[in-house]
Order: sequence, then structure tokens, then C-alpha cells
Amino acid sequence: MSEIIIAIDGYSSCGKSTLARALAAELNYRYIDSGAMYRAVTLFFLERGIRMDQKPEVESALDQIHIDFQHGPDGLITLLNGENVEEGIRSMAVAAKVSPVATIPEVRRALVRQQQALGRARQIVMDGRDIGTVVFPHAGLKIFLTASLEERVRRRSLQLLAKGMSVPDDEIRKNLLERDYIDSTRSDSPLMKAPDAVVLDNTNLTEEEQLLVAVTLALMRKRRSNLY
Ligand code: DC
Repeated sequence: MSEIIIAIDGYSSCGKSTLARALAAELNYRYIDSGAMYRAVTLFFLERGIRMDQKPEVESALDQIHIDFQHGPDGLITLLNGENVEEGIRSMAVAAKVSPVATIPEVRRALVRQQQALGRARQIVMDGRDIGTVVFPHAGLKIFLTASLEERVRRRSLQLLAKGMSVPDDEIRKNLLERDYIDSTRSDSPLMKAPDAVVLDNTNLTEEEQLLVAVTLALMRKRRSNLY
């Protein structure tokens, strides 16, 4: 069977990375978390005090940024210029700034180039906001993942609790809505469903059930791509 690229897009906290990681493991594909790349750039800017409106500084910083991934026993590790930044990129400070940083066209151009290079060998599952629309418009399978807002709040709250952070639901809901708004209304490659994406609403699906649906779709598409 032919190998394909699988694109998973959707709003914040709807389970994209959970599905992408499991699907990649099932197919023996490489999982790439494109959101981690935007987070790594945001961390780099924060650490160096680079503001979004400082265009020359932003552009020269982008020339100095190289992002890679390492697949370790604890999962995927994001490397920023060779350094493990997995913890830093998941901080609240980065979460608060990443959506605005992801609106900067120069940032998007640089990261899309790196993402396309990572996909050259196919056999990847990449999740994000513009993977099926901009990064890989010819992906063999595109999934647009959705879940109800209340379910997303519940999942995010559980995730934060697992890290020892108790955040009120209202605050989580506000943060999710804010990020969704910025991500889907920015002028450069806003979050939207690709016309040929399959919509998968996982509000009432378990992780195993959504994986089963996605694996079935992937196998069908792999088989179909073999025919051409
Ligand atoms: O998936 P995530 O929450 O880690 O993504 C962090 C931010 O990065 C998110 O608010 C939007 C942005 N992003 C993007 O604009 N395009 C992508 N392909 C992935 C993420």
C-alpha cells in the first residue's frame, strides 16, 4: 500500500494531538506536532524580549531558529536549536502569547517551509490549524476534528489538573474561545476546514473509538492512493 500524509486540524483542546499520536503509532508513521513549533518560536521570542511588532528582530530571529523532534520513551520531545524545550513550550506564559505570534506572516512562512520539509518522506501525521489547507493541500487524508466547547473545557481542565494546576472552568473557557477566535479570524492561513476534509466530532467518542475511525479512513486512503 502507498504511504500518505495525514493532516489533522481543529480548534484548541479537541484532542488533535491525542489522535495524531495514536494514529501515527498504529500506522508506524512519524507524528509531527506543528503547534509545538509555533510554541517554540514564541518561547524564543519571550526569552530574548523580541516583540511581535519588531519586524527586523523577528526576521533575524527566525533565521536563528531550528526546530526538530526527537521520539523518546516519554513521547515526542521538541528541540529548539538542539535543546529540549518540551516543558517551556507548555507553560502558561507561552500559551498566552502563542496565538498572536502565530498570526505573523513571516513566522508562518518560515514554519510552513520546515513542516513541508518534514513531510517530504510522507508517512507522517501532522496536526495543527492549517495543515490540510496550506501546509499539505494534497494530503492523502485530512481530518477536521471537533468537539463541543464544554467537552473541550472538561478535557483541558483534566489535563491541567494532571499537571497539578487547578484552573477555574470559566478561565479555561475564556482562554479557549480567545485562541479559537484569533486562530480562525487571522488573515494569514486562518483555521478552517479544508473542503475535502472529513469532519470527525469526538464529543461522544472514546479515544479508542476515534482511533478506530481514523485508522479505517487511513487504510482506505492508503489503498486508494495505490491505485493511481
Ligand atoms: O496546537 P497548539 O495548541 O499547541 O497550538 C498552539 C498555537 O499555535 C495555536 O493557538 C495556534 C497556532 N498554530 C497555528 O497557527 N498553526 C498550526 N499549524 C499549529 C498551531
